[in-house]
Amino acid sequence: MKIFLKTADDVEKLRRVNLIVSAVLDACEAACKPGVSTWDLNEIADRAMKAHDATSAFLDYHGYPAVLCTSVNEVVVHGIPRRDLVLKDGDIIGVDFGCFKEGFCGDSARTFAVGKISEEARKLMDATKQALEHAIAACVVGNRLQDIGWAVQSHVEPLGYSVVRSFVGHGIGRAMHEDPPVQNYGSPGKGLRLKPGMVFALEPMINIGTFEVEVLADGWTAVTKDRKLSAHFEHSVAITENGPFVLSRA
Ligand code: MF3
Ligand code: CO
Repeated sequence: MKIFLKTADDVEKLRRVNLIVSAVLDACEAACKPGVSTWDLNEIADRAMKAHDATSAFLDYHGYPAVLCTSVNEVVVHGIPRRDLVLKDGDIIGVDFGCFKEGFCGDSARTFAVGKISEEARKLMDATKQALEHAIAACVVGNRLQDIGWAVQSHVEPLGYSVVRSFVGHGIGRAMHEDPPVQNYGSPGKGLRLKPGMVFALEPMINIGTFEVEVLADGWTAVTKDRKLSAHFEHSVAITENGPFVLSRA
């Protein structure tokens, strides 16, 4: 495992690219209304990205065909934008975006409500968002890697939710995916010791029912096995002597 520690200058660049990611997600959020297709969202993201002179981290990544992942309801992650997938009142949609600028990659995701959603969906979204905050709070020098996963797991499992195992967070820097993998479950006090200069994309994926997922025939779209709802939030976070620096939060 090769972990690239970032310099202060690298972290500044990572901050700048992640602020672009945040602005692109803001544009997507404003557009997530009934009647809008997930392809429309991809175009909005593409335009906002280009306005910032950034390049996609997702397009052509292992053949991925869009700049955005749009994961509606039972889709956990990696939903491909489509002209014929039109958002409707009551949907939840995970929007995941990543791009490069100045040689560094930013990556963040949020789950949005479309119109008025059920209390069940709202609670899942809130728990997932809160789990990410707990994961961020665990990103302190001297903690261990699995303290992050434990922070997620120990928040959501008592609420009756399950943690997706088969997709994980990751180190991030000059490449979108660097070591180490960052699980959203684990045992407190285990794993490598967190050091200043490590930068992680933390991305809990939380399900109402089973943690098991399956990938559809398109080779990307990951859905819950029981087709119950899933939510996903992601931030890129730098570990510093002064605590976690949430690079993708404006
Ligand atoms: N945030 C996701 C990840 O870190 C997005 C990757 S989608 C892909 O893995 F299309 F680029 F693969
Ligand atoms: Co990611």
